[in-house]
Amino acid sequence: MTQPHPELVIEALDVHKSFGELQILKGISLQVRRGEVVVLIGASGSGKTTFIRCINLLEDIQGGRIRVNGHPMGYKQRADGSLARDSERNIARQRRDIGMVFQRFNLFPHMSALENIIEAPIQVLGVPRTSAIEQARALLARVGLADKADHYPSMLSGGQQQRVAIARALAMKPQAMLFDEPTSALDPETVGEVLQVMKELAEDGMTMVVVTHEMGFAREVADRVVVLDQGELIEEGPPEQIFTRPVHPRTQAFLSRVL
Ligand SMILES: Nc1ncnc2c1ncn2[C@@H]1O[C@H](COP(=O)(O)OP(=O)(O)O)[C@@H](O)[C@H]1O
Ligand SMILES: [Mg+2]
Repeated sequence: MTQPHPELVIEALDVHKSFGELQILKGISLQVRRGEVVVLIGASGSGKTTFIRCINLLEDIQGGRIRVNGHPMGYKQRADGSLARDSERNIARQRRDIGMVFQRFNLFPHMSALENIIEAPIQVLGVPRTSAIEQARALLARVGLADKADHYPSMLSGGQQQRVAIARALAMKPQAMLFDEPTSALDPETVGEVLQVMKELAEDGMTMVVVTHEMGFAREVADRVVVLDQGELIEEGPPEQIFTRPVHPRTQAFLSRVL
């Protein structure tokens, strides 16, 4: 890999991932610039989830490199330039730079919305409780839930829970946010409110990688659409190009199924 580029938040180079004998990612390279919104599309099983889990080392990789904010993920460079596996502690620190939002909200059920948001800033970053609360209230307002601070997840709709999950990720002040089908598990009537929050986040300049089947969102918000197929990145480009003039036959086949 060449020298880190200050504009690049995420750099994946030739990432290979296998589960046992099964090769899942066959050399994926992707660079995401600061403030860029990349939407990742592709058929079920194409490796989208695996790839974004690899970005912050929720999966280890068998080949290639990943750099976040200029730092190699999972490795440290020795004085002679060779690479050594980094300590779990350093990896955990690097992971904090990336917020993740999953299909399932994974909120702590026994904590209110506010408590869910302040937990990690207090426990992990050592933010004083009063400032964590202040920040959490601002984040709840930002995702349109100022009045839900004391509600438990079970009292919230799926869309509201997902917005709390976004606020919780933002509380760690991440350099980038990864979304894995954040609206797929939602009732249709709450999908829009979550996409709206994500759109505002993008407009505020957050660097984002979003796996989604919401092609309207991709068209409107993505700077770039990337197509995965059977563990390979087969095509990428501005949404207008991918959706109206896809070049790869497998992109064409995929889009004709979903559009
Ligand atoms: N933990 C695992 N062990 C074995 N195979 C897995 C595991 N996770 C995912 N896979 C396989 O990897 C492939 C890609 O899965 P995934 O990344 O979830 O695709 P997508 O998110 O695009 O639907 C699939 O064939 C899936 O069965
Ligand atoms: Mg998936």
